[in-house]
Amino acid sequence: MKKFEIGIVIKYPLRTSVKFARNYFRGKEIVVAEIGTYKGENALNMLEKLKIKRIYLIDPYEAYGDYKEDTASKNTDKNFKSAKRRLKKYSNRTIYIKKFSDEAWKFIPEELDFIYLDGNHEYKYVKKDMEIYWKKLKKEGILAGHDISWPGVSKSFCEFVQEKDLNPNIQAMDWWIVKK
Ligand SMILES: C[S@@+](CC[C@H](N)C(=O)[O-])C[C@H]1O[C@@H](n2cnc3c(N)ncnc32)[C@H](O)[C@@H]1O
Repeated sequence: MKKFEIGIVIKYPLRTSVKFARNYFRGKEIVVAEIGTYKGENALNMLEKLKIKRIYLIDPYEAYGDYKEDTASKNTDKNFKSAKRRLKKYSNRTIYIKKFSDEAWKFIPEELDFIYLDGNHEYKYVKKDMEIYWKKLKKEGILAGHDISWPGVSKSFCEFVQEKDLNPNIQAMDWWIVKK
């Protein structure tokens, strides 16, 4: 008799900035980077919902003193393997850069259409990520990120938008800015 099995596939909700990007780019082929890839859950959503030519996945997968998030700073090897497994189907479009975000940009030889910041959420890291990756963004590209309710993220975002006189967007836990 044929064995019958029920498989459970956990789907992670699509982030609001990714939804915005899907409508904004409307099937255009884009080049993307995610800072802080962890187990690849958001990266998978982006690969499934956006027409991605290439995605740079930036994460040191390394525990360090300034990073205190329990789940992500432990089991770093396991997290990397988990991302590789989850994104295997898209291996011809994914480029892993196992470095800290303030170094990783040097290994991206092109300008990007969509950049998603979700690495270290402490103020000095987020502010630096915004400044560095804004420069890597194409005109009309989108800089976005997660966890706007974190004090380090909201402070950086408010300052960045004010200093550069930009048009901010916030919805649910995500923020984003279109580069004019
Ligand atoms: C919240 S998790 C990212 C979750 C992932 N974006 C998702 O939604 O599926 C944060 C990740 O940022 C990484 N990280 C921490 N500090 C970083 C840094 N300075 N540069 C790049 N990544 C960093 C951690 O290793 C961790 O995997």
